[in-house]
Amino acid sequence: MTVKLKQCTSEDLKILQNISIETFYDTFKDQNSPENMEAYLKRAFNLNQLEKELCNVSSEFYFICFHEELAGYLKVNINDAQTEKMGNESLEIERIYIKSNFQGNGLGKYLLNQAVDIAIGQNKRKIWLGVWEKNENAIAFYRKMGFVQTGAHSFYMGDEEQIDFIMTQTLI
Ligand SMILES: CC(C)(COP(=O)(O)OP(=O)(O)OC[C@H]1O[C@@H](n2cnc3c(N)ncnc32)[C@H](O)[C@@H]1OP(=O)(O)O)[C@@H](O)C(=O)NCCC(=O)NCCS
Repeated sequence: MTVKLKQCTSEDLKILQNISIETFYDTFKDQNSPENMEAYLKRAFNLNQLEKELCNVSSEFYFICFHEELAGYLKVNINDAQTEKMGNESLEIERIYIKSNFQGNGLGKYLLNQAVDIAIGQNKRKIWLGVWEKNENAIAFYRKMGFVQTGAHSFYMGDEEQIDFIMTQTLI
């Protein structure tokens, strides 16, 4: 298969915003109210917010292309960019999204392996992520990839408090 990765720069801001909104909306629209969805999309994916994240030296974004078409993206965080205080020996996968028409082609696994390679290259001891307790597909995918549940934290979707499972893979 023809798969290419590209690390995003600030020049990719608008494309990043589009794919972030499209994939988040497609994944969660059926299980959330339109009001909460709209509030979340505005807060998380406005251009100022995404630009700040792109410029953070402790975060990296990657696009994945399949046969030259943009198919998904990955966001990883280290150090203080992590959304929980996990320490400097951890790497967080904050976002991993494959567009719905490209799912099931091994692209999620490819992005996840990219996160593992980055973590190993930086001598991290573990990779962790938060996943909504109701996102059964993603939980099954992460289990398949060797992650186990190690905790939970709250996540706000608009004004609704939701529970995210924290899942972890130990590298060393
Ligand atoms: C979850 C997601 C990233 C997985 O990516 P994908 O490209 O569809 O998955 P892949 O084709 O790379 O699958 C890799 C492996 O996981 C398995 N897998 C994927 N989804 C699965 C599921 N729902 N149940 C069981 N196994 C699954 C595949 O069978 C495959 O196994 P193999 O290596 O033995 O062949 C993708 O479906 C997605 O973007 N979903 C919507 C967004 C989302 O929920 N993101 C996570 C937010 S926390």
